[in-house]
Formats: sequence, structure tokens, C-alpha cells
Amino acid sequence: MPAEQFVSELNEQIGREYAAHQQYVAVAVYYDSLTLPQLASFFYRQALEERGHAMMMVQYLLDAGETPTIPGVEAPRTDFDDVVAPIALALEQEKRVTDQISGLAAIAREANDYVSEQFVQWFLKEQVEEIATMSDLLAIAERATDRWSDIEDFIAREHPGDEGGDPTAPTAAGGA
Ligand code: FEO
Repeated sequence: MPAEQFVSELNEQIGREYAAHQQYVAVAVYYDSLTLPQLASFFYRQALEERGHAMMMVQYLLDAGETPTIPGVEAPRTDFDDVVAPIALALEQEKRVTDQISGLAAIAREANDYVSEQFVQWFLKEQVEEIATMSDLLAIAERATDRWSDIEDFIAREHPGDEGGDPTAPTAAGGA
């Protein structure tokens, strides 16, 4: 059985992952409205990944005999000063999530709950990748200034959307 504090913190994290999903949908829609289809597709895919993270956490609690509570989320930001701003926001969000997941690992370790600690390891690895991706994207976007085709080309080349599944990923509730 997972430690009680881990269960309640993981439940909070489920809400934050859904909030990240909503935020990335809002970012994708913003880019779609500006006819920047590669950026839009990239963030629609990121949104789905965040939903997947939430559902993996839901499944972990179910498997552990706990009943997760599906929380409501705060409204995402939908207006941005310029095309770079949503990427900067995304990078900040990923850094925050990394701290939150590290906090979950610390709670599990302190409670000698090594199964839960191992469960969150995959998410820590995922965060390293997401921070690297968003950092690269931010650097390209800042360099592109008004040449938006540069960043559209970068995404088409580096993140075409066929990265494939990760066989080591935890199972998600509902098979999502
Ligand atoms: Fe689920 Fe990108 O954190």
C-alpha cells in the first residue's frame, strides 16, 4: 500500500497534470488561430501527453486499491503578448512539474514507500526530456524573431509527431 501522504499528494498532482493539459490545449488553439500549424500540432500532442500522465497516476492509485478523486482545474491562460510567450510559459510549467514530481519522490522515500518512489522515476525521466524540448523550442523561437517559418520548419523536422510510444511508460487508466 502506498504511503498516505503520497496518495494525497499524487491526487493533487493528477489535478496539476489535467491543468497542464488544459494549458497546452489553450496554447495550441492560440497558435492554430494564428495559422501556425506545426506549433499548434506540437502543443495538441503535448496536451495529450499531459492527459496521459494524469491517467497513469489514476491507474497507479487504482492498482494500489485507492480511489482517486478527479479534481477540477483552474482556467488556463488564453491570451499571450506574442508568439514566444506561450513557449516560455510552457518551460516554466515543466520546471514547476519537475519540482513537484521530485517532491513526490522525496515523500515516498521518506515513508520507505519504494514502490511509489519507483513509480515516479519514469515521470522524472520524462521531465528531463520535456524541459530539454521546451528549452530548445524557446531558443529557436527567440532567435526566429518574426521569421515564424523557421520555428515551423524546426518542429516539422525535429518533432514530426511520430516519436512513437514508450514501452517503459506506466499503464494509463482507460488505456489512454
Ligand atoms: Fe506531465 Fe510535462 O508534465
